[in-house]
Amino acid sequence: MSHTQTAVEKTKEQQQLLNLLAEMTIEEKVDQLMQLAVPFYEGAEDEGQITGPMDSLGITQRTVHNSGSVLGMAGAAETINVQRKHLENNRLGIPLLMMADIVHGFKTIFPVPLAIGCSWDLERAEQSAAIAAREASVSGVHVTYAPMVDLVRDPRWGRVMESTGEDPFLNSLFARAFVNGFQGSDLAGDYDRVAACVKHFAAYGAAEAGRDYNTVDLSERQLREFYLPAYKAALDAGCEMVMTSFNTVDGVPATGNEKLMRKLLREEWGFEGIVISDWGAVKELIAHGIAADEEEAALKAMRAGVDIEMMTACYAKHLAALISTGRLSESLLDDAVMRILTLKQKLGLFENPYRAADPQRESEIVFCDEHRAAAKELAIKSCVLLKNNGVLPMHNKQKIAVIGPFARNSDLLGPWSWTGSRDAVEQLADSIGCKLADAASLLVAEGCGIESAATEEQWQAAEAAAAAADVIVLALGEHSDMSGEAGCRANIQLPAAQLELVRRLKELNKPLAVVLFNGRPLDLHGIYDEADAILEAWFPGSEGGPAIADLLFGDASPSGRLTMSFPYSVGQIPVYYNAYNTGRPQGAPDAQVRYVSQYLDIPNEPLLPFGFGLSYTSFIYGEPELSSQVLRENGSIRLTVTVSNTGTVAGEETVQLYVRDLSGEVVRPVKELKDFRKLLLQPGESREVSFTLTEPQLRYYHADLRHASDAGEFIAYIGPNSAVNQALPFRLTSVNG
Ligand code: GLC
Repeated sequence: MSHTQTAVEKTKEQQQLLNLLAEMTIEEKVDQLMQLAVPFYEGAEDEGQITGPMDSLGITQRTVHNSGSVLGMAGAAETINVQRKHLENNRLGIPLLMMADIVHGFKTIFPVPLAIGCSWDLERAEQSAAIAAREASVSGVHVTYAPMVDLVRDPRWGRVMESTGEDPFLNSLFARAFVNGFQGSDLAGDYDRVAACVKHFAAYGAAEAGRDYNTVDLSERQLREFYLPAYKAALDAGCEMVMTSFNTVDGVPATGNEKLMRKLLREEWGFEGIVISDWGAVKELIAHGIAADEEEAALKAMRAGVDIEMMTACYAKHLAALISTGRLSESLLDDAVMRILTLKQKLGLFENPYRAADPQRESEIVFCDEHRAAAKELAIKSCVLLKNNGVLPMHNKQKIAVIGPFARNSDLLGPWSWTGSRDAVEQLADSIGCKLADAASLLVAEGCGIESAATEEQWQAAEAAAAAADVIVLALGEHSDMSGEAGCRANIQLPAAQLELVRRLKELNKPLAVVLFNGRPLDLHGIYDEADAILEAWFPGSEGGPAIADLLFGDASPSGRLTMSFPYSVGQIPVYYNAYNTGRPQGAPDAQVRYVSQYLDIPNEPLLPFGFGLSYTSFIYGEPELSSQVLRENGSIRLTVTVSNTGTVAGEETVQLYVRDLSGEVVRPVKELKDFRKLLLQPGESREVSFTLTEPQLRYYHADLRHASDAGEFIAYIGPNSAVNQALPFRLTSVNG
């Protein structure tokens, strides 16, 4: 139902669905809740030729032809074909929903979301989702399992690359931007959009020890303060679906957690859309130990409000019996079916089951130049300059040796890029070569594998290239399977083979500019001190090569800022900027030397903090001012500061505003991001920037979970990152204070 419909029309459409529901048999209702992957359809089209996956699930062909949705199908011709055959076999002509993981691009692959987060560019983030939606929709996709908005603090976890980082405020802004990009404002009328599915609800990023699928055990206050805001922001932006997470939340797996799904998501937040389980998560209630068998798993997941079961068949096999024996009310089944039919109606699938799928238009817009240009721009803005002793930017007359396992490597797309193509990726060495005045000035050597040590031949080639060069660009990193789902690493350094290559090249005393391709913050021991410059490129997507080359040669100026801390070492984890002070903080006025919260062998601070990033110019901040040091509960105060570009080239600064509550009813973070501004300043240019502070920004969850502010003392911090800023005290008073 589009926004423009009247309440009467809405009721009319609802009635149409209720009439359809009334015609459905209980088996047809149950099958609407089934979601299977593509292989089930490849066999199912030849009547009776069911083999393999179906039998493994113990379900019949009937389920496939009546199922409500399919997972992982894309391609205009393919989806049209499957939809047509589905409708030929579906008694009531109920169309399939086509769902797929379109996380950071379809054919035009954008940087991974953690990289997009480091752009702090909400408009371009929204644009990336809109382009992904346009390409996916014309290829027959109706729903994307994105955005992933899990807050992350542990880079051992492989899926940090899918998140926008460790801050709830910034993650919420990106969640809204992605949903707006995917869905637009009129899903029914705008065929260039797809429905979004926010995931993974909830707190999947808090898995203990950074091990995927592991236990999550948080206080409700911690959950609400840090982990839930971004999901809520996605739903407030109109996100159509929610995906349950694999993990437990307070001892109960999310997929069977009535408190989380019914009481909080549906009742407290009023979410009326579809809840889909993650892959196999319904049946996994057995392994978790809260269901004895598939029947009990089906019962618990339905009671928790899971509408669609992804890739297992507990519902298909047991729901009808649970209802006929009175253990489950049919009204729960009807509610789930209505939510699924409602989304199909919103997408216009009853009128046109093929929606935007169009092979001709698909060939015209998928991976078109306009989309690729947007992907390059966002890749430029997502890279973070971590160090630069002046070796960058390079110039086109230099002899440059590009050495390392990513010198010639097309694995720049990162996890969740299954619809993209590495064939179309320009490799870094070629992107750099395009910049050089003389092609002979480009020297390339692999040096070693991503994990395999250099052979003597590889080393000799690398040494020769380095000897002939003015500058070495060291292209290092993780292959994309070393992060992403189930890509967890206990040691987050680069592989030993690469560290050895750095060590040996360092001995040649040539300027070393390192470019990193990775899906997580790394322990940079063996890199940070040895390199003269480090550009964090993450997995930069289809256009990553040209984007990085523009940055290396100064045709663009690095502007990314970290949204997830780089730990000094894995021993610090979790380390994040918005932590609590503890009763024995280091450096306190009366702090003892030993008996304070610290390590004997490493610092407390991360190597590189949240918000950090360098550019090719330098900025200075003038004296910040507050319009008043008293903020009345119903008023506002303004913080103003002048930022100047004191360098010789243009640069983009991200001015960051943090606040600290000096005395809460519960402990409060030492800093919380409240706002930011991106300023593009020409050499010598100064600009005044101002922020407004109001009481709602100071609210937090009290011990009794009341979300409110307290009158009292606060400090505002303004500066270039979470560790470098100027402090301005102010006081919040009640209206009459
Ligand atoms: C995976 C992921 C989830 C994805 C789903 C469908 O296991 O956890 O993010 O959307 O299955 O592919």
